[in-house]
Amino acid sequence: MELAQHFSQDEAVLKEVALAGLLHDAAKSMRPQALFDYCEQHGIECSDAERESPQTLHPFVGAHMVQQELEIQSLDILNAIRYHTTGRAGMGFVEKIVFIADKIEENTRNPLFIRRTTEHLNFRDPTSLDRTILYLLDSTLTFVMDKRQIIHPRTLEARNDFIRAEKNSKHKEQ
Ligand SMILES: [Fe+2]
Repeated sequence: MELAQHFSQDEAVLKEVALAGLLHDAAKSMRPQALFDYCEQHGIECSDAERESPQTLHPFVGAHMVQQELEIQSLDILNAIRYHTTGRAGMGFVEKIVFIADKIEENTRNPLFIRRTTEHLNFRDPTSLDRTILYLLDSTLTFVMDKRQIIHPRTLEARNDFIRAEKNSKHKEQ
């Protein structure tokens, strides 16, 4: 909410941010097998990348639970929950805020990493959200490669999308 308030004064948007923020990890405590079972029972598609790294499933299961049990139908909220781990190409404002906020959360994230990330934020410039996400996606990809883990294709698509947007805006400036 704090992060969002720097960039928007729209009460309806801020309410969506609050709900998405509160609910984004609704399925976080579920074990991999429970996540697989839930997906199978509810027809949630489970790709190879998700089978290989089950932590990437909790956002989709969480969004489904929130939609079913709390009857939340706002796509902004549901997508913010769905894509808070991997990001995606074409992220909206609520998604961007929840994605960043999740990565700079003080109780679980490394203080140095939080500082390096927030250095990209400029509250007078909404495009700084994109630069911050690009930094986070690059950091994730580097980390995942160093650890020889599976790269989720959606993270790569998101990264390419933000790089393209950056290139296009620089091109326009010239
Ligand atoms: Fe999460």
